[in-house]
Amino acid sequence: MAQIEWSDSMSVKNAVIDTQHKEWIAIYNRLDHVLLHGGSNELFNAVADAFQAMQEYASYHFRQEEQYLKEIHYPDLVTHKRLHTDFDDQLYKYSRQIRNGELILGSEVMSILKNWLLHHIMQEDQKYCVFVSHSES
Ligand SMILES: [Fe+2]
Ligand SMILES: [Fe+2]
Repeated sequence: MAQIEWSDSMSVKNAVIDTQHKEWIAIYNRLDHVLLHGGSNELFNAVADAFQAMQEYASYHFRQEEQYLKEIHYPDLVTHKRLHTDFDDQLYKYSRQIRNGELILGSEVMSILKNWLLHHIMQEDQKYCVFVSHSES
């Protein structure tokens, strides 16, 4: 597992949303750190808490971003929202399974999360960024 590093190519040219994406990445990195360095006794709760924190922050960010997309009249809001909702549901499911001891968080799930996060920020969120820059010019 590897940490995610913020780069300027991830920017959507909106300071509030960039800050949220950075925070989300930081929470992901914390989860990665807990998995690598947690002691075995406290590990279960630490992982479950760190995962839940990430899930809750993702949810919060999605709602905020959707509000912003509504304000700018982004034409593909419905499609974008569906991507959020699907991932939101997936994270919630993982979180519940981890808490219930039905899922042991490991490199497989972490790389699913990382890939989704990077793909979403660098491809899907870029689409509204392009839309904004076109409508401003
Ligand atoms: Fe986003
Ligand atoms: Fe998004």
